[in-house]
Amino acid sequence: MGDSKRIGILTSGGDCAGLNAVLRAVVHRAAGLGWTVLGVEHGTHGLMESPPAARALNLADFDGSVMRRGGTILGSSNFGNPFAFPQLDGDDLDRSDEVIAGYRALGLDALIGIGGDGSLSILNKLAQKGDLNLVCIPKTIDNDVGVTELSVGYDTAVQVATDALDMLQPTAASHDRVMILEVMGRDAGHIALVAGIAGGADVILIPEIPYRIEHVVRKIRRVQEAGRRFALVVVAEAVPNESGNKIVQKYAGGRSAYSGIGHLLGDRLAETTRAEVRVTVLGHVQRGAAPDARDRLMASVFGVHAVDLIAEGQFGRVVVWRDRQVLDLPIEEVVSEPALVDLDGPVVRTARGLGICLGDA
Ligand code: F6P
Repeated sequence: MGDSKRIGILTSGGDCAGLNAVLRAVVHRAAGLGWTVLGVEHGTHGLMESPPAARALNLADFDGSVMRRGGTILGSSNFGNPFAFPQLDGDDLDRSDEVIAGYRALGLDALIGIGGDGSLSILNKLAQKGDLNLVCIPKTIDNDVGVTELSVGYDTAVQVATDALDMLQPTAASHDRVMILEVMGRDAGHIALVAGIAGGADVILIPEIPYRIEHVVRKIRRVQEAGRRFALVVVAEAVPNESGNKIVQKYAGGRSAYSGIGHLLGDRLAETTRAEVRVTVLGHVQRGAAPDARDRLMASVFGVHAVDLIAEGQFGRVVVWRDRQVLDLPIEEVVSEPALVDLDGPVVRTARGLGICLGDA
């Protein structure tokens, strides 16, 4: 099967469950072809270093426990676009040439980049600038990478959010409370919608569907009038407040992330219903769990297919999952549009059919 190759692999963007399982799959498939795999540390940051921060990944590194663990043994980073890398003085510096030099210094025949749509766009730009042989694997708990029905990490995050609802329901019922669960997902409502259905939520608010607080209040009153004195509400982190502004938490160093709508909603519902309201912001526990079976499967399918693409000399492609098949498409096509919740799709229809309030009626 062809010449021996030396391939690099990196994990970029926010971590999620299943990244280590991708690494394992790539190393297993590459070993079967007699290739060497170099794991680059902390995404493109590792390639910027001189010498590049990378280490050989061998079958012996995957003793059976690694693929079961959350996180990434290579480390990752969700800031520091090499084309505009933030400097201490506040300015940005184009460090893309350093990344390209790192690829060359490692003597790579190809690079596998595992990332969400932001990372994949940046990697594609680097590949085009430096003529790098790039193949990408989609990962993100948000499941917003275009075209692919699944990205690594999403299924586990949905399970964590569903488990959280399972654990909030007893307190909701015991104390006659409205329990609000704020979940991640960036600008997409996939986690909220699916976990909300699976976890028996009465109200699910997602960024794709504008809501009115009156509808939410009415739903909770109806639940109460029907004799159930508690309710479960799921809200996606990028749902805006009533003035249409998304709520952002600012962190030291100038970075920020969505967070806070759960508490605002909680205050409004406490004002407008007689119920006692409590809010849980689920946060990063959605990213750190052990990957579930589906994420391990997707990680394995994508890892093997990515190596096979390199063996065939096909680059500039992302592996995707569609209609029970693994396919690969040009990176530009996959990142051109995020995959938001399909408002006419079966999941939204199901939520409405179950009588779940989506905030718009
Ligand atoms: O994209 C994954 C994600 O977990 C989003 O759901 C969330 O908005 C964001 O990353 C959080 O980023 P950070 O880890 O920087 O807080």
